[in-house]
Amino acid sequence: MQPGTPSQTAYRVALRRAAHQVADHPLVFADPLALRILGLAADGSRQLGSASDLRAPDRPGSKSLRAFLVARSRFAEESLHAAVRAGVRQYVVLGAGLDTFAYRNPYPQLTVFEVDRAATQQWKHVLLKRAGLEVPSNAIHVQTDFGRERLGDCLRRAGFDAAQRAVFAWLGVVPYLQRSALEATLQDLANCAAHSMLLMDYCLPRHALPPVEQLEFDSLAARVAAAGEPFQTWLEPQEARELLAQHGWRVRCDLGHNTLNERYFAGREDGLAVLRSGARVLMAEPIANE
Ligand SMILES: C[S@@+](CC[C@H](N)C(=O)[O-])C[C@H]1O[C@@H](n2cnc3c(N)ncnc32)[C@H](O)[C@@H]1O
Repeated sequence: MQPGTPSQTAYRVALRRAAHQVADHPLVFADPLALRILGLAADGSRQLGSASDLRAPDRPGSKSLRAFLVARSRFAEESLHAAVRAGVRQYVVLGAGLDTFAYRNPYPQLTVFEVDRAATQQWKHVLLKRAGLEVPSNAIHVQTDFGRERLGDCLRRAGFDAAQRAVFAWLGVVPYLQRSALEATLQDLANCAAHSMLLMDYCLPRHALPPVEQLEFDSLAARVAAAGEPFQTWLEPQEARELLAQHGWRVRCDLGHNTLNERYFAGREDGLAVLRSGARVLMAEPIANE
């Protein structure tokens, strides 16, 4: 991504969440602000059709990717809701993009820290304003660049209390980071995350995929590279577990497409499901807590 340029991939992911609100029934991830933040009409008819990725929402590849994106958001917010019931009062959305949780947060006692690069946050402010969405007092925007700045320091300066529990959601970001930035951030988070939970997704390397998925991988990789945000880091599940352990995190669950389908897409008649095995979402906790 060019410095000073808002994230294109954040826009594309947000478009897919918006498409889910109008194209899929029943909803796996209900986000009443997904269309509004993009300036789309409630039925999604305006503009959605002109977005190249969404001209054919029923294309298997498009449907499968959308299914993964809504499943990971559902997993994150379900985990958050359980954590809030258990007393968590801080939610940190890392690489927040156009995530809307902070603007529909049902918990007045929960502070949401949205972390992203400055240009993406400034653009989000413009979109929020255009949509008539106020930034609530319990939503705090934190600007940083993973791997270049100490995330813990940035969070603390913004009011994050490292002595209190928190949920960190890092969705759709790891593949775009250099490995050094991923490792530095994992370490930094483990140091400032007493009794916390990390939810993150990651992509498998091309060689670990079946041949048909390798072609789709190439196509997606080419699209994100053309958007200036190339994939840079891939992990296999064992490697992810080891890497997280090296930096202070124990993986508690790591969900592939079969588990996500059983959990979130069983019994559907519209065929919405994660058909590809190339992305997974995991939950980890700090080893220091054990
Ligand atoms: C694919 S988007 C995902 C956005 C959001 N998590 C979602 O699921 O809608 C990737 C996000 O990560 C952010 N990002 C990528 N590299 C980053 C970095 N080095 N530091 C901070 N944010 C970064 C981008 O600005 C963008 O908002």
